[in-house]
Amino acid sequence: PAPGWSIAADVVVVGSGVAGLTAALRCEAAGLRTVVVTKARLDDGSTRWAQGGIAAALGEGDTPQQHLDDTLVAGAGLCDEGAVRLLVTEGPDAVHRLIDTGAHFDESAEGRLELTREGGHHRRRIAHAGGDATGAEISRALVEAVVGHGTGTERTGPRVIENALVLDLLTDAEGATAGVSLHVMGEGQHDGVGAVHAPAVVLATGGMGQVFSATTNPSVSTGDGVALALRAGADVSDLEFVQFHPTVLFLGPDAEGQQPLVSEAVRGEGAHLVDADGVRFMVGAHELAELAPRDIVAKGITRRMIEQGAAHMYLDARHFGAAMWEQRFPTILAACRAHGIDPVTEPVPVAPAAHYASGGVRTDDRGRTTVPGLYACGEVACTGVHGANRLASNSLLEGLVYAERIAADLAARHAAGALPARVPAVPPAPGDRPAHPLLAPEARLAVQRIMSEGAGVLRSAASLARAADQLRDLHTEARVALEENGKTAEPGVDTWEATNLLSVAAVLVEAARRREETRGCHWREDHAERDDTAWRRHIVVRLNPDRT
Ligand code: SIN
Repeated sequence: PAPGWSIAADVVVVGSGVAGLTAALRCEAAGLRTVVVTKARLDDGSTRWAQGGIAAALGEGDTPQQHLDDTLVAGAGLCDEGAVRLLVTEGPDAVHRLIDTGAHFDESAEGRLELTREGGHHRRRIAHAGGDATGAEISRALVEAVVGHGTGTERTGPRVIENALVLDLLTDAEGATAGVSLHVMGEGQHDGVGAVHAPAVVLATGGMGQVFSATTNPSVSTGDGVALALRAGADVSDLEFVQFHPTVLFLGPDAEGQQPLVSEAVRGEGAHLVDADGVRFMVGAHELAELAPRDIVAKGITRRMIEQGAAHMYLDARHFGAAMWEQRFPTILAACRAHGIDPVTEPVPVAPAAHYASGGVRTDDRGRTTVPGLYACGEVACTGVHGANRLASNSLLEGLVYAERIAADLAARHAAGALPARVPAVPPAPGDRPAHPLLAPEARLAVQRIMSEGAGVLRSAASLARAADQLRDLHTEARVALEENGKTAEPGVDTWEATNLLSVAAVLVEAARRREETRGCHWREDHAERDDTAWRRHIVVRLNPDRT
């Protein structure tokens, strides 16, 4: 059966954060017909929530080599050094191009970029905007650049389809990318299930923080790109390395969904982590104390919480005073006060929460995945720059640099006539008969609880085995419903999201079970040491594309 609608392009970019919009703007500028599809509104992804900033060797005395050194240390032996070298050498110019695109960063009175520090950085190299609203400014600038292009009668910018949930990759008879199928809600002529046909697809769908109960990620971060890539038979790597941000505002033991972040930049400017007795427990635990790499601080907090039987620790920055809080960290100040905590007069309760997927869809240095024509950049990708633990504020930079690399690759292929239109071998299934067993929306909460209990900050063979069994039961229920009753949950954004969360959770748990060591942000209480003999390698997963 034919899909409800289809449009054609040279490239379809899925997602609208820093990576997606940068890729789209650069592709369009290179003369490719570009379509951006995004699950909610253009600015609804993770980018706009980023606080601390964007790291690059922009300061006096700093060099890409020093940035590389810090990135490799944080990555705990699993970074791809070549990929990091590209990131840190191309990073400073990419930030300047972002500024040329319209993003305003905080500057000193002399007009120099103000730079702060975060965990794992030996220098001040984090550019920020609006104090602690860096992502919001980057998102604003990129959205304006995309939308501004498209307002005249003559369209010159990428075409945008919002409220468009990506379903599956379409491939031609040779298995090369031919576009994506989409479920679109309420967008007029492109409503319902349809397709964008294109020989190149750029996944920039962001992360999967919603796989856990408490996360800094917005509700749209449901691993859609990784789930699509798994269904398409692309290589996915390093999923076990989920970064837990050490300092997330603690709103109670049962708080679920997106939680307010308290940026590392607060520690970068001198805040102290203290326990229930007021003791600075990171001093002596690492040479950088509160500014140790993120995994070390998250572990330090978790350990002390266990020792004291406490549900959280405290971040104490009362010594900043009201003026500094208001000027430098207005977003965090407002979030704390909205929850009845005043950081000017009291320590802020904090605990780790899921924050960033260091792994994802495996790519090479041009953003190419293992499926011809399928690219990935930003959090959904695993370029190799993060290894076992991402260095703070390297993610916005990675999104920028690798999106530009993808656009350059596509522009070269386009100019060489190597992006011919491709005909999908199988059209997308219609909306009322999806190709996969779909989970009911309520399964989302079940997946999140299973994952937080069994595969959170602290993992063991037993906790992971329990999580794997529980996830398998959820999948079996959905499959039986489809096979025996010919019925599945009603297709829609929430059912697709629950289904994607289950897919990525299952692979994440299997990878975490296999990695019998503690490295970076993967912490096994039953294998407490790093094991370079057996485990200085990646866990790469490729599912059979026919498996659902
Ligand atoms: C933060 O502001 O602490 C987050 C920075 C990051 O995740 O890179």
